[in-house]
Amino acid sequence: MNAHSLRSVRLDGPADVDGFLDRAARLLAAGAHPEAVAWRVAGERAEAQSDLFAGDEVRDGPLVAPAARLPAAFREIAARALLHSDATRHALAYRLAWRLRRAPQLMSIATDAEVARFAALSKSVRRDMHKMTAFVRFRRVAAPDGGEAFVAWFEPDHHIVEATAPFFKRRFANMRWSILTPRRCAHWDGATLVLSPGADKRNAPDGDALEEAWRAYYAAIFNPARLNLAAMTREMPRKYWRNLPEADLIAPLARKASARAADMVAAAPTPARRSAPAAASPSRAAAEACGSLAEISGALPGCRNCDLFRHATQVVPGEGAAHARLALVGEQPGDEEDLSGRPFVGPAGRVLNAALERVGVDRSQTFVTNAVKHFKFEPRGKKRIHKKPGAREIAACRGWLVRELELVRPRLVVALGATAAASLLGKAAPLRDLRGRTIGLANGLEMRATVHPSYLLRIEDPDAKKAGWRAFLDDLAAARELSET
Ligand code: URA
Repeated sequence: MNAHSLRSVRLDGPADVDGFLDRAARLLAAGAHPEAVAWRVAGERAEAQSDLFAGDEVRDGPLVAPAARLPAAFREIAARALLHSDATRHALAYRLAWRLRRAPQLMSIATDAEVARFAALSKSVRRDMHKMTAFVRFRRVAAPDGGEAFVAWFEPDHHIVEATAPFFKRRFANMRWSILTPRRCAHWDGATLVLSPGADKRNAPDGDALEEAWRAYYAAIFNPARLNLAAMTREMPRKYWRNLPEADLIAPLARKASARAADMVAAAPTPARRSAPAAASPSRAAAEACGSLAEISGALPGCRNCDLFRHATQVVPGEGAAHARLALVGEQPGDEEDLSGRPFVGPAGRVLNAALERVGVDRSQTFVTNAVKHFKFEPRGKKRIHKKPGAREIAACRGWLVRELELVRPRLVVALGATAAASLLGKAAPLRDLRGRTIGLANGLEMRATVHPSYLLRIEDPDAKKAGWRAFLDDLAAARELSET
């Protein structure tokens, strides 16, 4: 290919990220200047730029040059930015890729206008994906074979259906479901994920029994102490409300919330006792200023004590009974917790729930939280791989944990794993030295330590796994007993 010949490159669809990366790498290797390339997308209105080529010799030809390597930092942002509905995203991405050849550190220059715009596209796609995971509501329908299936209607801003569907596949693996959106639909039959063209809202059923059940559930779990209408509107923009069966419950529940929250405060058995922190930490002052769990939830999103907030979707505060007798402290949110904003809802949470059930603990009567409130991970392709928080991150978040526990004042705190124990003790200690003992903490609370549930998931040998599970149940049963004394 001649470096100056004009190229019109056609991608297979608006979410064809791999196609873009492949074509871009080849175009770069062939020295194709960004102004000589027009990006067109099957099923999307031709980009303004391609008008320049009207009448020119524009052909979709094979791109045969050897692919140039695109840096990981670029590919990581591109994976989301290229799903944006902005029609100029490919041209922008290719200009950046072109500039990267001369400036390999370009992606770390946040003040560069093109880098900043690309990052903003990526951020808004990430937010849209998060909204989809949080606000899709399925409705039960009769399937043609007499069984049941679940259908949801959702209106994303960007081309995120393909990228978000695997989340629903994992979460609702045993259901048959379809998510219909105006541009793209995803269908899961329990075995295969299929994508189809966009749908009409008239195909999304509404007003059925499932909706009623969902509304009842929402009213039951509504926690007035957590109501923060400003944050709620920020997290759940009104445009999503019309597809949520619970939306018309929000206003009446909100009106009752201040009275119910006052009742909860009046009913509190003992005011929170203040005590000296075991060790100073940077989040201590902001956390100290919070007089309730609701205030902690409101203040946490502004925490900048470490860098983890930069890449996490959101902060994950503790949740559960405001005056639980038993508190459970994990390490940090995982992938699913990061997306949902709730602790222990992913694979480790399912192990924890099963264990609590086995030893007769009602999770809704406990307080569940983490030592570190943001997800720390390493991107690997499309996956986010959990990374252990370091001592600095544990210390940076410690004030929040200490304050949560001061407010809840549980009879017993259970450290799930070494990170939680290190945060609670203010210093690292081997788990084997802590297990089976009740340890007094500097703030007057008592702690017992056990393994983290994900440790049990990692054990491969079946006998060792069984023994690990039994020991975990024993630890939780002992914790339950102590918490009841
Ligand atoms: N692991 C944790 O430690 N906490 C969570 O919330 C989820 C997984």
